[in-house]
This record gives sequence, structure tokens and C-alpha cells, in this order.
Amino acid sequence: MELLAGLPSPRPLNWQDRLISALDAGLRTVFVPTRATRPTPAAGMEPPELAEADRRGAQALMRVNHVGEICAQALYQSQALFSRSDDARRHFEAAGQEELDHLAWTAERIQQLGGHTSHLAPLWWAGAFAWGSLAGIAGDKWSLGFVVETERQVEAHLAGHLERLPQTDTVSRAIVEQMRQEEAAHADEALARGASLLPAPIPALMRTAAKVMTTVAHRI
Ligand SMILES: [Fe+2]
Ligand SMILES: [Fe+2]
Repeated sequence: MELLAGLPSPRPLNWQDRLISALDAGLRTVFVPTRATRPTPAAGMEPPELAEADRRGAQALMRVNHVGEICAQALYQSQALFSRSDDARRHFEAAGQEELDHLAWTAERIQQLGGHTSHLAPLWWAGAFAWGSLAGIAGDKWSLGFVVETERQVEAHLAGHLERLPQTDTVSRAIVEQMRQEEAAHADEALARGASLLPAPIPALMRTAAKVMTTVAHRI
């Protein structure tokens, strides 16, 4: 401590610092394996024996979910970057941090299933970063409203995956169920922070963009 006593205190981060930090986080999201801070919800489970068709089906669904988590990183990073208040920024950063576990869990599951993550990861990240930037520029209450809508759509999407994932793939199912619960909590937290619900055409537009992403990521 005595050694640090004579050093000037670090200056607060300015916008350019935050932009560089968001781009750096983006490169790590796309190109560097993420390490989870919490154990996977499937920890301690016996790895299930899967029929070949089930294994391939689960690979594709978990690849889609991994892409969703790449997008979540880009959205929260860009929304934090453009947030007006420190309170909103801290909220986006904290939620993004929790989403990192989802990113790590889905990547690990894809590997266990012998699959590959999407080849278009940089594209998904960039597209989501653009969406999140627009939401952030619109102002905090709309940006929080964008979180509410996104997380609710993701929650419904994950509920759909729980119907499609093979019953035998208990590991993927445990991960998706935990994610579904946490996405719902993210929506509730954003609502509690004063989110404005988005006007009618925007949720439909977001659903269309998500449909394109999920359809393509299912294959590549
Ligand atoms: Fe997530
Ligand atoms: Fe979330």
C-alpha cells in the first residue's frame, strides 16, 4: 500500500477508453474461449448417451444459443457504451457479466457434443453491436426497454428449445433452463429500472432479425 501512496490516482475512463474497451471485449467474445465464473448448471450430471440424430440436433440448437449469447455480449457492451447515466451503465455491465457464463456454458456444451460454434460469429457480434448502439443512443429508458423486449423474446425462444431438445440430452436441457430463468430476471430488472416498453413495430422488427439469425446459425 505504501508503494502506491505516491502514485497519482487513475483518471476516470472517457468515452474513447470505453469504446476501445468494448471493441476489445468484442474481439475476446468472438475469438477467445470464455471462462465461466459459476459452475455449469449440469455440473455433476452423468454425460448422457445420445443417438446420432439427437446429438446433431442438439449441436445445432446449442450453436444457435451460443450465437444468442454472442449477441447478448455485443448488445450489453454497446448499450453500456452509449448509456447516459452511470446507473444504467452499471446495470448493462453487470447483466453482460452474468451473460458471460451463458456464453461459456453453451460453448462448452457444443464442444462436448462434437459440434462447432457459428462460423459467422464476427458478423452476429457486429450486427448486435449496431442494434445495441441504436438503442443506447435513443436514451436510457428506451435502451432498458430494448433489454426487456430482447430478454423476453430470448426467454420464449429458449422455452421453445426446451420443447425441441432431445429429452435424453439432460445436460443441454439443464443449461438452457437455467439461462431461460436468468433471461427472465434480466427483463424484470430492466423493467424495475424504469424501462419504457417499445412501440409496436420495433418488437416485430426484432423478431424478424432474430429469426434470420436463428435460421442461419442453425446451419452455419
Ligand atoms: Fe444469456
Ligand atoms: Fe439475458
